Amino acid sequence: MAEKRKFQAIKGTRDLLPPETELWNQVEQTAREVFSTYGFGEIRPPIFEPTELFARAVGGETDIVSKEMYSFEDRPAGIPDPRRFMELGDYVLAIEEGIRKETIPSTPSNRDSVRTFRSKFDEFVKVSSMLKTGFHSGGDPIPRAYGALLMECIYFAQTIQLGEMLSLRPEATASVCRAYIEHGMHALPQPVKLYYTGPMFRRERPQKGRYRQFYQIGAEVLEAIQPGHGGAKDIFKDAATDAEVIEMVMEFFARLELQGVQLEINSIGCRECRPKYVEVLRAELLKVKDRLGPDSQRRIDTNPLRVLDSKLESEQEIIAKLPRISEHLCVDCAKQYEEVKRQLGLRSVAYKENWRLVRGLDYYMRTTFEITAKGLGSQNAVCGGGRYDGLVELLGGQPTKGIGFAIGEDRLILSLQEAGKGNVAKGRDVYIAWLGEKTLATAIHAAKTLRAAGFRVELPPVEQKFGKALGQADRIGSRYALILGEDEAASGQWTLKTLADGTQAKYTEAQLLEFLMKAKVS
Ligand code: HAM
Repeated sequence: MAEKRKFQAIKGTRDLLPPETELWNQVEQTAREVFSTYGFGEIRPPIFEPTELFARAVGGETDIVSKEMYSFEDRPAGIPDPRRFMELGDYVLAIEEGIRKETIPSTPSNRDSVRTFRSKFDEFVKVSSMLKTGFHSGGDPIPRAYGALLMECIYFAQTIQLGEMLSLRPEATASVCRAYIEHGMHALPQPVKLYYTGPMFRRERPQKGRYRQFYQIGAEVLEAIQPGHGGAKDIFKDAATDAEVIEMVMEFFARLELQGVQLEINSIGCRECRPKYVEVLRAELLKVKDRLGPDSQRRIDTNPLRVLDSKLESEQEIIAKLPRISEHLCVDCAKQYEEVKRQLGLRSVAYKENWRLVRGLDYYMRTTFEITAKGLGSQNAVCGGGRYDGLVELLGGQPTKGIGFAIGEDRLILSLQEAGKGNVAKGRDVYIAWLGEKTLATAIHAAKTLRAAGFRVELPPVEQKFGKALGQADRIGSRYALILGEDEAASGQWTLKTLADGTQAKYTEAQLLEFLMKAKVS
């Protein structure tokens, strides 16, 4: 008998259950409503993509790509398992054919691995046939060679790459850009405005507001750069787009009555001015290297900007004295940043400047922003975003501008719940307390009619004594009980009991509907 095992959701993942899912649906519905008023349409990209897409877009050195992705090899169907030694022969034939037909990656190193495996396998076959024929005398060198060769075959089999590396998406901006290129969206009227909702995956240390499967609501604005456009000419237009995107998130949060919303903005410069600033920063960081923690010390080499992100108490004083990017922005970046701030003002969007806001993904340039909310503890960023001109080009498309954001839906919901906004209607509107076989048809009819009118109805599958039925109605949070006995079924006069105060009255079917409709709006 199979061993008893209690299955549980994997660490960092969780089940979202009713009635909480009601709030999730309301939040997503509000996002759809608000985003569509700004001209956004929905995109639903796949949950997994080539690992390389994220490595290129988000950056190979970032924590997300280097440590946090869930990646796996996509192997073609029907390849035998090399760990089962009876299948080794079939395995070698299958991979040789796979290489020939290019159903498995035909890279030089993979072809090498297949050749090595084949020669080990041939040796193994030779030794095993000697064993079978008993063609060895005394001692045990051959059985020993047999065991060693088998292990080697299994080892070399595993060095063969059977398919492309894929990853569960850690974010969706890369996917949206990939889809923009794949579907030739540059040929559509520009800009293209897309939003998405769905799960993302990062192998982070789980804590309140931080999960390994979490949900984002995001939006992206993509615009192919027309010949003769771009550069300084578009500064004001781009700033207006940035400000409108930020205004849209803030409008969404206002609609949800999210509490303690704080918007922080920054400009991290462009390809021209940022590298120069990074060098200035690196030089300054080297001077204080000994006083920094190991993470920041490493980042002096890999990505000095990320040192500004450090939350380490002992580093705060040092960081406060570092040179600021705002003093090193090129003329166009500085102009654009000023215009974003002016545009936010025109839209009555309150913001705070934070020169340390650099974000943890590599694709950003110029405008970056983050929004925090109340009740979230240390993981209080409820939204992050920014401009990423050039990302589409980096992924093989034509020069394109981009700006977008992603909201952490789990954190958004947490904050709403902490503020007591998560009390969604639960229970039922009407519990049908029916008794007597002849009443069942009337009870089914009543349930159908009420459900068609949009009421949440519980129809118990078997009759219940009225006392028990009313108790059950109360337990599941029903507002009314419709009492149907044989008398009510025969007369067409149905009794409705209001459970909060125990009052009851008789209604015909039409009167009942009218009463409930009125009660629903009141
Ligand atoms: P991000 O800052 O990595 O940006 O994530 C956006 C938001 O997702 C965060 O502010 C946070 O609320 C939420 N989030 C991130 N990781 C977790 C986690 N482990 N658990 C719970 N919530 C989490 C991006 O993903 C960019 N793609 C945003 C963007 C879109 N930029 C331009 N367009």
